Amino acid sequence: MKKSALQQARATYQPKLPLALTGAVAAKLGNPTNSVANQEEIKALFPNTYGLPELTFEKAAPAPCKPINVGVILSGGQAPGGHNVISGLFDGIKKINKDSHLYGFLMGPGGFVDHKYMELTADIIDEYRNTGGFDIIGSGRTKLETTEQFDKGLEIIKELNISALVIIGGDDSNTNAAVLAEYYKAIGAGVQVIGCPKTIDGDLKNAYIETSFGFDTATKVYSEVIGNIQRDCNSAKKYWHFIKLMGRSASHIALECALQVQPNVCIVSEEVEAKNQTLQDIVDYIAGVVATRAANGNNFGTVLIPEGLIEFIPAMKALIAELNDLLAHEADAFAQVEGNAAKRDWVIEHLSAANSALYASLPAGVARQLSLDRDPHGNVQVSLIETEKLLGEMVGKRLAEMKEAGEFVGKFATQYHFFGYEGRCADPSNFDADYCYALGFNAAMLINAGVTGYMSSVRNLVAPSVQWIAGGIPITMMMNMERRHGEMKPVIQKALVDLTGTPFQRFAAKRDVWAKETAYVYPGPIQYFGPAEVCDRCTATLSYEQLDK
Ligand code: FBP
Repeated sequence: MKKSALQQARATYQPKLPLALTGAVAAKLGNPTNSVANQEEIKALFPNTYGLPELTFEKAAPAPCKPINVGVILSGGQAPGGHNVISGLFDGIKKINKDSHLYGFLMGPGGFVDHKYMELTADIIDEYRNTGGFDIIGSGRTKLETTEQFDKGLEIIKELNISALVIIGGDDSNTNAAVLAEYYKAIGAGVQVIGCPKTIDGDLKNAYIETSFGFDTATKVYSEVIGNIQRDCNSAKKYWHFIKLMGRSASHIALECALQVQPNVCIVSEEVEAKNQTLQDIVDYIAGVVATRAANGNNFGTVLIPEGLIEFIPAMKALIAELNDLLAHEADAFAQVEGNAAKRDWVIEHLSAANSALYASLPAGVARQLSLDRDPHGNVQVSLIETEKLLGEMVGKRLAEMKEAGEFVGKFATQYHFFGYEGRCADPSNFDADYCYALGFNAAMLINAGVTGYMSSVRNLVAPSVQWIAGGIPITMMMNMERRHGEMKPVIQKALVDLTGTPFQRFAAKRDVWAKETAYVYPGPIQYFGPAEVCDRCTATLSYEQLDK
């Protein structure tokens, strides 16, 4: 693989481990745990892995350990630092015993079920240290959920003499990891399952998982680019930039970027839902900001829009829920309708009156995007919905009406952007490089401690990395029951933006000023070499959230 000059220099970076993981470790067990909600139901579904104690590692006297063979899976969307989780895991199992082996299943959980794998040797691992991407073994979105899949996976586990599987994934993948751990424990398969918290979306977090990996790097990349756009916008003073930011559901990415760059507008989906706002309310708000700035001679600005917004507008949420059921139950009939216009008419005919009227009012492109295939977890593929264009066009129409009424004197020209893929595979920031390496190394220690159904947990993340606390949290502890595909299922509770939390409150306190003034901040690119205050800075979200503890 040909490496850029930066990659060559970066390859020599040695991620910093928490002090507790720098020598031999001993597991200190805490109190038994409970799930965050629905305790009785979850306990009944996980009789072998429910209620396990929280675990932290402490330094201990070295003791000889047997070699272990471990399998690793990258699951779901890419997130910066995945390669460091794997290199940390590799170094961890080699430290336990140099004869340990690491096998990577190819292209996600599908590789596990289909027995596609490769051994990850030192030479391979060294090529990928501190690099972005998941290309070392690839990732995929196959949902691991049936006992047939678990049994099929067990065949290759036995063949390779693997005693533990590490699943690097988001909330859905870690939910599946917990189900797999329970199943292997129940049948006495002798296979441990450990999860690692991944997703740029930042919505897999709680008291023990302070952030998911990748959020730090991805938001730094987006903030850099938004900052550049803001500087362009403030130079030419002629465009309103509508910028959609990834984050399937929660608005953490948009909020973090807003805290970094101080845009004129940032919509937070969770607030839209809490205030029961309609699409028109959002349009009116943005149009109001545009008109106020225009009155001051500023016909330019930036609007940040979270990718998941559509699903949080209560009326749209009801429409999507009915569409999900309709398309699941009438999949064959819908597939037989030919042509986009006929498909749209078919949907309009089959929805209830209120949802049908809303669907019919949507621009044809958006309506079509809402009826496209769901992902394997049943989610609407929100990254395909062009919310930024929808809002830009609706704001344009509203401003035209306001102009007629004499309420808007100015110009309104738009540029549209969607940032998601630009940040998912960036080389990890120092924070993510250290955090991911620690998560992987810690996963090896959890395996050596003999536990299963745990998520690798590295905490105290606003402190320097040597002071981080390493341990494990039973995955069942993060679970509650939710309706999925018409059935109640145990799932890890998704962490949405907390409207009472400091990150949102800081934004809310400033947004009126940012709307009127041009208060842009230009964060610049991620720095890998240089002063700690520039290179090791964690996200505003993480540092403000620590104030809430
Ligand atoms: P994960 O939750 O699997 O980490 O994926 C996050 C994400 O990047 C979302 O922000 C986005 O909506 C989605 O993946 C897009 O996925 P894909 O590229 O597979 O369509």
